[in-house]
Amino acid sequence: MSTRLRIAVLASGRGSNLQALIDAQRNGRLPIEVVLVASDKAHAAALRRAEDAGIATLALDPKSYADRAAFDADLFARVAACEPDLIVLAGFMRILSPDVLAPWAGHIINIHPSLLPKYRGLHTHRRALGAGDPTHGASVHYVTAELDSGPTIAQIEIPIVASDTPDALASRLLGREHELLVASVALIASGRVALADSRVVYDGAALTAPLLLGEDGTLAPRTA
Ligand code: GRF
Repeated sequence: MSTRLRIAVLASGRGSNLQALIDAQRNGRLPIEVVLVASDKAHAAALRRAEDAGIATLALDPKSYADRAAFDADLFARVAACEPDLIVLAGFMRILSPDVLAPWAGHIINIHPSLLPKYRGLHTHRRALGAGDPTHGASVHYVTAELDSGPTIAQIEIPIVASDTPDALASRLLGREHELLVASVALIASGRVALADSRVVYDGAALTAPLLLGEDGTLAPRTA
């Protein structure tokens, strides 16, 4: 694809994944244009990062809407007005209603800090440690109406070590999450990954397991 993929990012907090996308675009590794960063938190650091990068921002306060459906409808109308090719949920801490997601099927992804289908929802690092898992990781998946449950595109897997605390594990994972998101968006931008019939298609064939991020930062099918 010669044109750049237009991306809208929704973020509620720190925005380090957004920053990874911005940095990768800037240094020529990602053919994207971030056309909007939207948040449900006016003080989100993600919005400041976007402003610093000269990206349009939008902050909407859920409390000023009658209900969840009204907030979601306004947010997605404004996002749609920017005509993104892809919406990226990067630390967006709200559940979205099925009505607004349906038109974006196959064009909205989320990054989640666990090896899905394990540990949907919150406190994933603590839960992985508590279960005694040997590894932990993060997933990039297409978003569906069910929380953290859409078809998974790609994962990064890291070992859990004896000294790990939830915070230590989270911070060790975060840098790899950034690589995972950038590599996943690169595959979507190049047209090598798409969603068809509720399955992730990679190089023309439906995936039977998520792609895995290698040490070299590239995504490839898992080897048995
Ligand atoms: C990341 O851990 C992401 O996987 C999760 O929320 C966190 C967002 O971090 N969905 P940041 O705001 O991108 O720094």
